[in-house]
Amino acid sequence: MRLDKLLSNMGIGSRKEVKALLKKKQVTINGVISKDGAEKVDPNKDEVAVNGEFIRYEQFIYLMMNKAPGYISATTDKREKTVIDLLGDDVQHFKPFPVGRLDKDTEGLLLLTNDGELAHELVSPKKNIGKTYFARINGKVTVDDITAFRTGVVLDDGYQAKPGELVILQCDTISEIELTITEGKFHQVKRMFEAVGKRVIYLKRLRMGDLQLDPALKLGSYRALTESELAYCKSLKDK
Ligand code: URA
Repeated sequence: MRLDKLLSNMGIGSRKEVKALLKKKQVTINGVISKDGAEKVDPNKDEVAVNGEFIRYEQFIYLMMNKAPGYISATTDKREKTVIDLLGDDVQHFKPFPVGRLDKDTEGLLLLTNDGELAHELVSPKKNIGKTYFARINGKVTVDDITAFRTGVVLDDGYQAKPGELVILQCDTISEIELTITEGKFHQVKRMFEAVGKRVIYLKRLRMGDLQLDPALKLGSYRALTESELAYCKSLKDK
């Protein structure tokens, strides 16, 4: 890849800033000064340094966020704050995007990456990756609802949802449940409950496949995936 592309992709600066660094002889490839942004480097072999500091090339970024309410799951929006606004400047150059949509008022596990292949593995309904949600429901959730969800409820647009696994944690005037589904239609959990005459009043995603929301993550904060989480993501891509 081009030297200037590697440097700007790694957040060293804009194309213009990188050009200035090269001009000032602050960049070396394998110890030799390079002033040519078009010079080709092999990120896996060549040692690129800026002011003597080696630049480690990473193509992908994988972040786990505990999404805060009030943010939309998009990369840009004219009016609303997006989950990308919650990320620091040090990761923006990777151009991460959210994997799957969480509604503006939904909290919880959101993976942000620039790895399109992984995103596809996690969200494609064909891949059958379970997404588990915790929800508070206005009304008593019943055994009949468990049966209906297991069969597959029909949503307001006539779509028959794939079977979901409903666990009742608390049954009261406000019930608490966990629901695992393998698809992610628009407002899916809310619409599944509407289909049985109930309303979701709080929703939080807890798990996506083997990725589990880190309880130490405060609302709106994020961290890089751990080695074992990364190994799981790799296993999905290698299947
Ligand atoms: N289902 C919903 O209704 N909303 C979400 O944010 C996620 C799943």
